[in-house]
Amino acid sequence: MITVTSVLPRPVAAAEPVARPRHYLMCRPEHFEVRYAINPWMRPGVPVDRERAIAQWEELRRTYLDLGHRVELIDPVPGLPDMVYAANGATVVDGTVLGARFRHPERAAEAVAYRAWFEAAGYRVVEPEFVNEGEGDLLVVGDVVLAGHGFRTDPRAHAEAAAALGREVVALRLVDPRFYHLDTAVAVLDHATIAWLPEAFAPQAQEVLRARFPDAVVADPADAAVLGLNAVCDGRNVVLPAQATGLAAALRERGYTPVPVDLSELLKGGGGPKCCMLEVRS
Ligand code: ARG
Repeated sequence: MITVTSVLPRPVAAAEPVARPRHYLMCRPEHFEVRYAINPWMRPGVPVDRERAIAQWEELRRTYLDLGHRVELIDPVPGLPDMVYAANGATVVDGTVLGARFRHPERAAEAVAYRAWFEAAGYRVVEPEFVNEGEGDLLVVGDVVLAGHGFRTDPRAHAEAAAALGREVVALRLVDPRFYHLDTAVAVLDHATIAWLPEAFAPQAQEVLRARFPDAVVADPADAAVLGLNAVCDGRNVVLPAQATGLAAALRERGYTPVPVDLSELLKGGGGPKCCMLEVRS
């Protein structure tokens, strides 16, 4: 007698977050200091412990490596203390690099250094005409690029980014100077959703984000105030500032794995874990 067993597909848990290995570029803070102020976090009188900044950054790099990501390094350039914030160096989508152009002259030469790194690595780099501070203001979420403006990136750079990267670009106006880059007010959680601080945006931008991401995680102002949204998600793990405990709990509830890191010295320059890496999407 023949027994026929039919195997029914097992029910799959609804949208279980899945990690995917990534490729990041980072810059060791060998020349890090706060000697000018171009955002409200930077206070040139407050001492910075560079050794500690380097140790915290090493820990961050180790964290990315332990999560299975590939981390490449760009040589730090003397006289460019903010170069550690690699996110601002370029935007890379499908192997195409849109170069950065900085708002403040203090950071202008970083664009040259990052461009040279990508060219030496064999990438095609599109030279921008308008100010864009790389992934600080251009965040890739699935097929679209969310684009901040109001403090740094010129809104005219949005069309430039759309043309260079071949993606729809969604303009979002930032209104709170503490959240001067989009990546301080929005964390990309995976290809389809975000965590964000509504108060950091103009009313129209809030409407746009609510409509596009109805299931977004809304961050508590206290978590945003320690740059908690400056977080890096690989699909499942979310590397975020250790002080953002409320956000970590909210993420855990959604099935993500929060990975807290202490970057208190680099916070003095106005950056967190996400500012310290640039994702190379090939
Ligand atoms: N001191 C830097 C600046 O004000 C910090 C940049 C932080 N980077 C970022 N992606 N949010 O430009």
